[in-house]
Amino acid sequence: MDRLEKSIIITGATSGIGRELAAQCIEKGYRVGGTGRRVENLREMKEQFGDRFYYRQMDVTRFDEARNRLIELAEEMDGVDIIVLNAGIIRFQSATAVESDQKVIDVNVSGFVQLANAALDYFVSRGRGQIVGISSIAALLGYGKSSAYNASKAFISNYMQGLRQKVRRTDADITITDVKPGFVESAMTAGREKDIFWVAPADVATRQILRSIEKRKNYAYITRRWRLIAWVVYLVPNWILDRL
Ligand SMILES: NC(=O)c1ccc[n+]([C@@H]2O[C@H](COP(=O)([O-])OP(=O)(O)OC[C@H]3O[C@@H](n4cnc5c(N)ncnc54)[C@H](OP(=O)(O)O)[C@@H]3O)[C@@H](O)[C@H]2O)c1
Repeated sequence: MDRLEKSIIITGATSGIGRELAAQCIEKGYRVGGTGRRVENLREMKEQFGDRFYYRQMDVTRFDEARNRLIELAEEMDGVDIIVLNAGIIRFQSATAVESDQKVIDVNVSGFVQLANAALDYFVSRGRGQIVGISSIAALLGYGKSSAYNASKAFISNYMQGLRQKVRRTDADITITDVKPGFVESAMTAGREKDIFWVAPADVATRQILRSIEKRKNYAYITRRWRLIAWVVYLVPNWILDRL
């Protein structure tokens, strides 16, 4: 069936970047599927956005259920073109906090892998599509206060490169977009204003994310000036990074 409007599913749509992306997509005429654990937020979004918004409550760490709900949602929407894997958490921890590290890995790594593969199978069977992973500038280096988070984002970016190579060996036309935001205003950065810089308002960052998605880019730094930081990080020797 031919559809004129595009359709997109966004995980972690209940707040921050995901919610803003849902709003901007609705404004542009997309049909939007949102997921997250906070079903009350999803219901509120349904009221706000109306007929073109669909949702499923989803905890990405309940792997089988999450994969099933993703595909159910895509079917309810009569097919989707783009799946944005945005759900993620950060934990700032003391040196021994292995449990909080594990939680970050469960959501950002294991949850991501499960849904990335469900999305890949879905798009391979349709012959085309786009998977967008919300990584982070944090993927570029380790950081002692959030080592699991930074490592999880390095995993996401590296995994997406592997996916990109994998889809080249299929007949399907699938784009894999690795989005690396710097700091963006959201619950994740709230209260850390003194420690961070170049913090972009969520609407500005999200507009750039959506533009990168629509241009079917492989890589995007958000906001664009963070590309400079990426170059600097690549040039700085490890003995300096080890002292951060
Ligand atoms: N803000 C930044 O500066 C920044 C920078 C770089 C990258 N990012 C990335 O951007 C993404 C969105 O973050 P944000 O800044 O918008 O923060 P946020 O407002 O805290 O949003 C996080 C989203 O992830 C969802 N989520 C968390 N745990 C989940 C789970 N177990 N199952 C399903 N959904 C889950 C949350 O929904 P529920 O709580 O309803 O489940 C929420 O919708 C994250 O991947 C983050 O790492 C953010």
